[in-house]
Amino acid sequence: MSIYENYYDTMNSVMHTLVRAVEENSRRHESACGAKLFEHLRFRIKDEASMREKLARNGKQANAYHALRAVTDSIGLRIVCLFIDDVYENAALLRNLPGCTVVKEKDYIQNAKPNGYRSYHMILDVETDAPDVDGNTPGHYFVEVQLRTIAMDTWAALEHEMKYKKTIANPELIVSELRRCANELAACDVSMQTLRNIIRDS
Ligand code: GTP
Ligand code: MG
Repeated sequence: MSIYENYYDTMNSVMHTLVRAVEENSRRHESACGAKLFEHLRFRIKDEASMREKLARNGKQANAYHALRAVTDSIGLRIVCLFIDDVYENAALLRNLPGCTVVKEKDYIQNAKPNGYRSYHMILDVETDAPDVDGNTPGHYFVEVQLRTIAMDTWAALEHEMKYKKTIANPELIVSELRRCANELAACDVSMQTLRNIIRDS
């Protein structure tokens, strides 16, 4: 039996409802303005092993209740955009979706993490016709959405890779170089946004 018990199908349906909303919004935007609102979109249900590891790390019992209530990223979407403005447009769409409430938002674009990490994070509470782990119908499910530009995504992927390499000779240098790269990429994102605005306005 999966840690998500018989809630797995509903989780899947909640995830795909959000994916479709983001995709349809981008298609509408493309018809109107000639450009997609995201470059690519990834989504996943946290796999069993990662969920069990996270619950153990947080001192929670491994069961569906904690997987769906103590942890808020059992369902995850990552929306990767060409431009910074597109990140905020997608965030606005999600904020205004019927049945969707923002539980938590973190703007690591305006306020980068000390290591240089940038992204816009949202924890959503999504209502669905099916029951949830509290026994309520309609049910409520948490979804974590990470929104970022391609540059931010590239940096996060590299930094993630480094985090698990424990045998690096000069970690301080790596950390400060990673931070410098993050700042350079952020400056590029701003320049690219400015270029797009100039092209659009002319
Ligand atoms: P968890 O880290 O998931 O326990 O939640 P949190 O409350 O610390 O939330 P936060 O918004 O900081 O991070 C959520 C997710 O964003 C992480 O699980 C990562 O996928 C991603 N993330 C946050 N910080 C970093 C970072 O410094 N580097 C990378 N590569 N990813 C990060
Ligand atoms: Mg974290």
